[in-house]
Amino acid sequence: MSKKCRDKDGVSRRDFLGLAAFGAATVGTIGALAGSLRFVKADVYAEESKKFKIGKIENYPQGSVKKMDEKNVFIFSDEKGLYAISAICTHLGCIVHPSEYGFQCPCHGSQYTHDGDVIGGPAPRPLEWFEIHQEVDGTLFVDSGKTVPQGTKYLFA
Ligand code: FES
Repeated sequence: MSKKCRDKDGVSRRDFLGLAAFGAATVGTIGALAGSLRFVKADVYAEESKKFKIGKIENYPQGSVKKMDEKNVFIFSDEKGLYAISAICTHLGCIVHPSEYGFQCPCHGSQYTHDGDVIGGPAPRPLEWFEIHQEVDGTLFVDSGKTVPQGTKYLFA
C-alpha cells in the first residue's frame, strides 16, 4: 500500500501537481480561445464618411465657383442649382485647375470641359460628380463617396 505524502492541510503532492496541471491547461485553453476570437471577427473597419458640410445655399450666389481645397471638390452654382465636381484627375489623381475650357491637369496635361468631360490628354474618364443634399436645418452637404450622373444638380426650390 502506497503512502501519500501530505502537507499539514492534507493536500498530497500528487493532488497539488494535478491541480497545477489543470490550472495551467485552463489558462492555456482560455488564452488560445481568446487568440482565436481574433480570427472570428472580420478585419473590416468602418470607412470614414466622405460627407462634408458646404454651408447654406445663400453662400452660393448664381454663377459662383468655390473650391473646397481640403476636399478637392469644386462647387458650382448656376441658374438651376448647385453641383459638385471632383478636382481629382482621373488619370493618376493630380488636382486639376480651372481653365478657360473647363479644367486642366498640371501633371500630364489632361483637359476637361466645364462638365468634366475629357477633351485631351491621357485621362481615361470624366471628372466625377458628387451628390449634394440639404439637411432639415438648411445646411448643405456634399458626399464625395456618392457619385451621381453628370448633370445632376441640387435644384433651387
Ligand atoms: S494625373 Fe492628370 S493627366 Fe496625369
